[in-house]
Amino acid sequence: MPVSKAVATLQHAFTPKKLNHAGYLAVAKTRAKALHAFALVVPIPRPQLFIGDQSCFELCDMMINEGATKILIVTDSVLNQLGIPDKITDYLQQKGIGFHLYDGITPDPTFSVVEAGIKHSVDNNCDAILALGGGSVIDAAKIIAMSQASKRKPQKLMGLLKAGKMMPLYCIPTTAGTGSEATLGAVVSDDKTHQKSLSIDPRMVPRAAAIDPVIMKGMPPHITADTGIDVLTHALEAWMSVNASSETDYYAASATRTVFQYLPVAYKDGENLKAREEMGIAAHYGGISFNKAGLGYVHAIAHQLGAFYSIPHGRANAIVLPHILDANRDVCEHRLATLAKKAGVVDTAQSKADDGKLADYLIAQVRALIEETNIDRSVKGINEADFIKIAKAAAVEVRDTYSVPRYFTQAEIVKILHDIKDISDSLSK
Ligand SMILES: [Fe+2]
Repeated sequence: MPVSKAVATLQHAFTPKKLNHAGYLAVAKTRAKALHAFALVVPIPRPQLFIGDQSCFELCDMMINEGATKILIVTDSVLNQLGIPDKITDYLQQKGIGFHLYDGITPDPTFSVVEAGIKHSVDNNCDAILALGGGSVIDAAKIIAMSQASKRKPQKLMGLLKAGKMMPLYCIPTTAGTGSEATLGAVVSDDKTHQKSLSIDPRMVPRAAAIDPVIMKGMPPHITADTGIDVLTHALEAWMSVNASSETDYYAASATRTVFQYLPVAYKDGENLKAREEMGIAAHYGGISFNKAGLGYVHAIAHQLGAFYSIPHGRANAIVLPHILDANRDVCEHRLATLAKKAGVVDTAQSKADDGKLADYLIAQVRALIEETNIDRSVKGINEADFIKIAKAAAVEVRDTYSVPRYFTQAEIVKILHDIKDISDSLSK
């Protein structure tokens, strides 16, 4: 498919339509092909990566060498109160570089939150943006950088290839989860409806990122677990995508292997810098893999659990992931078996088993990891009356943005929601 047609098809994807299931499948598969063409022909840049306990200083040096004179540091109030930005601001002060700190980013940032950030940047004549935080902070910083440079309101930047220009953007992730420092997308919520809008543009990929394990070591165990399962979900969904390639497979398998090896360590011993660093790299690799291969039903349903019941993103993924692996198992048997071997979750003797046993073993290991990290799988307030709405919204998200190995009917999604409710009810007893 030529790139112009791919872009036109993808642009169209942001206009939902009512379709029967056959029409839905036809549109979804055409869009999956368009996404594949887009990934093949549109180059996606990679941020320069600095790794280690000195990496945030190396990143600051790069900003200075690239001409930054006044840096807007975008973060949230919790991180600011914990003093996380001090390591950066002390260094910039030593170097005589100006900065202004905006700590107003909230979880699932809204347009007004982003607009406040743009005002801080413009009023203080900032010429570079440094995002210091988790996925919400990095996403907001992307839109601030895009909006200020292109002089367009953030609402006008939602959709495909709307960036025009970007201010120089740099990232220091404080969680090992979203991999947003590697990706070409950002999500912003409407202030009133809380509906999420997605902006996708390769120009949004930051110029550089620092994976600093010292900055990540303050993450509490439950957030380490939630965000770590988010990494695993990115890798598994990219691996199962019909648009996976040898390149995305490399990063997805590497991220999967690292999560199984190091998430339990980082969860139990947050001060373990090796585990923090490895998880930071895994999150980055997960971001690279789904940048091109996309995600799937785990994210589509988890986003709705977040919107309906305020479940944090990583935890929602942990709640949904085993159900989607079960549902995809038959069509992905060989792929899951291959991943079980590549990710090192089976020993030499086990690796000789047939594909079915290996796929089952991988899925069992995912469940065991969720168990080991004590992730709460209950969904407070989950209500059957919401299930059709949730299923419809998830189906639209899959149709418009992902390239899944099999498409579920509405009834299948509702059945998964019932299974989630049953587990939730049994855990609450
Ligand atoms: Fe995610």
